Amino acid sequence: MGAADAPAVGWIARVTLGSGRAEGDWRSDLEHPGYRMRVADDGGRVVGFSACSLAADEWTVMHVAVVPECRRKGVGHALLGTALAEAAAQGATHAVLEVRRSNRAAQALYRRFGFAQVGVRKGYYQGPVEDALVLRVEL
Ligand SMILES: CC(C)(COP(=O)(O)OP(=O)(O)OC[C@H]1O[C@@H](n2cnc3c(N)ncnc32)[C@H](O)[C@@H]1OP(=O)(O)O)[C@@H](O)C(=O)NCCC(=O)NCCS
Repeated sequence: MGAADAPAVGWIARVTLGSGRAEGDWRSDLEHPGYRMRVADDGGRVVGFSACSLAADEWTVMHVAVVPECRRKGVGHALLGTALAEAAAQGATHAVLEVRRSNRAAQALYRRFGFAQVGVRKGYYQGPVEDALVLRVEL
């Protein structure tokens, strides 16, 4: 994947995460040497993406998102599995992420990979304001 995926990633982020980021911001992320982004492709159409980063031995999962009509088909599982395999291969010892307290679907996905809650960030999210659960897994 590369900068050419920015329009698709931007659109998916908008419809799934409510992101208001500009396409150019996603293009920068896709080209950022410290970020690890992957897209899921279904017959030539981008249906999901993951965005992660690696700093020292810590892998951060920033986003995993799948278009609504393609959910519960294993796409999110494949994206996260690929990301965590890449994390381990690149020397990360653990992975961390934040997730809305109300986001049961994402929490269920993360728990499938062994993520467990290690903290709470009060009022971390805006629109609506909500706590973030901090999850972590050893790799
Ligand atoms: C979270 C998300 C990425 C899951 O993607 P997905 O492709 O539907 O996930 P999968 O089909 O691979 O599901 C894998 C497992 O996750 C769990 N899961 C996924 N969606 C679930 C739901 N709605 N309810 C309960 N468990 C769910 C299940 O354990 C599932 O395994 P199963 O289908 O065998 O029961 C997707 O719902 C999404 O894009 N949500 C909006 C964006 C978002 O909230 N991202 C996370 C931000 S932190």
